[in-house]
Amino acid sequence: MSHPQTHRALILDQIGQPLRVDNAYPTPQPTPGSAIVRILAAATLSYSREIYNGNRKYNLSTPCVPGNGAIGRVVALGADATTLQEGDLVLIDIFVRGRDNHRACALSGVHDGHSGPAKRMMHGEWRDGTYAEYAKLPLENCFVLDERRLLGSPSTDSIYAAATAQGEIGLGYTVEDLLHAASYLVPFGGLRDVGLGVSETVLVSPATGMFGSAAVHVALAMGANVIAMGRNTDALEKLKADVVAGGQGHHIHTVAITNNIEQEMSAIAQIGLPVDVYFDISPPAAAGATYTKSGILSLRQGGRVSLMGGMGSDVSIPINAVVQRSLALKGKWMYEREDVVRLIHMVESGRLRLGKKGIIGRFGLEQWKQAFDAAAEQSGPGQMAVIVP
Ligand SMILES: NC(=O)c1ccc[n+]([C@@H]2O[C@H](COP(=O)([O-])OP(=O)(O)OC[C@H]3O[C@@H](n4cnc5c(N)ncnc54)[C@H](OP(=O)(O)O)[C@@H]3O)[C@@H](O)[C@H]2O)c1
Repeated sequence: MSHPQTHRALILDQIGQPLRVDNAYPTPQPTPGSAIVRILAAATLSYSREIYNGNRKYNLSTPCVPGNGAIGRVVALGADATTLQEGDLVLIDIFVRGRDNHRACALSGVHDGHSGPAKRMMHGEWRDGTYAEYAKLPLENCFVLDERRLLGSPSTDSIYAAATAQGEIGLGYTVEDLLHAASYLVPFGGLRDVGLGVSETVLVSPATGMFGSAAVHVALAMGANVIAMGRNTDALEKLKADVVAGGQGHHIHTVAITNNIEQEMSAIAQIGLPVDVYFDISPPAAAGATYTKSGILSLRQGGRVSLMGGMGSDVSIPINAVVQRSLALKGKWMYEREDVVRLIHMVESGRLRLGKKGIIGRFGLEQWKQAFDAAAEQSGPGQMAVIVP
């Protein structure tokens, strides 16, 4: 497939400066180990504007093209590609790992990582993200999607239905719907990291944000029971209603965050399920909240904790309970490559359903500010503002 010499890209000259669109940005050329992808839709975060205006104090080499997880079509490949084909629809994973050091990892267009080697990697080849018409990615960060299955019409694709072992038909997603898979990946990484098992119970807190609500859906698809905690009871009810509509209502319970540890623990205990895993995905705004303690103190003997949140300040840990109940605490940044493969299989099989009404707006590159404002102000369970370059 052909691609132009130049293209349109959003540029971040420096953290804290307004972004700008470059209408003649040089289009990257394929080199060994890379793919060039035409970006069809890219995700935003509720805190995208805080990353680029400097409030979040993220490390990011500039100038660069910012970005996030995206869906695109491969237009050119390095000569060493083995399986990817031009024209493939792919999920773009922006979590880049050093090829000579897998511990060096960073997020293209978002964060240069937490080590010198990661920063070195991001200064050069992989600094540009997906808020552009074209992006260059490591081959291994492009995951082929079964386009016919995912985008095929549920009612008309009977040829495909006959061809699949299960007799199933298309899932009827839009390209933008598929971006939710990128947000599901984050909690999937943490839940797999602590070995969440079938019929176990996971307490998710807070459960009403993008990644918290994703954790609820992913945990249910993994066969677990979920106790969803949140301070916004309307948002909790909406989340529960989505789960009920998906036929999983008997596996979800909700508990209000009240910042009263005894009250929260009592509400969790009343549900009557032993809690195997506490999954924490707190934002910095929740610094000082006490639900992390309620969550840890509600765990059964031998329970596990997955800490994925970015509270940004230290959290008080009930050390006696950790010792006496032999609890395991694990932190997790993002996920493993194998997790991406598995999650895509879960989506393609229909085991993990992506929301179909979760797009709060589609924004062109020039509308980056509106996109980030919408993401910050209107996000809720399963809601996302999308950049369509
Ligand atoms: N470890 C990783 O790899 C990784 C990856 C991505 C993100 N993260 C972290 O995950 C965090 C959450 O991301 P997100 O996209 O889900 O954010 P989000 O969509 O903005 O959701 C934030 C959640 O926090 C809740 N919240 C805010 N202030 C609170 C408070 N004072 N007390 C209790 N709950 C409060 C919100 O509840 P309301 O509905 O009540 O407002 C909402 O449920 C990010 O800030 C980031 O640091 C970690």
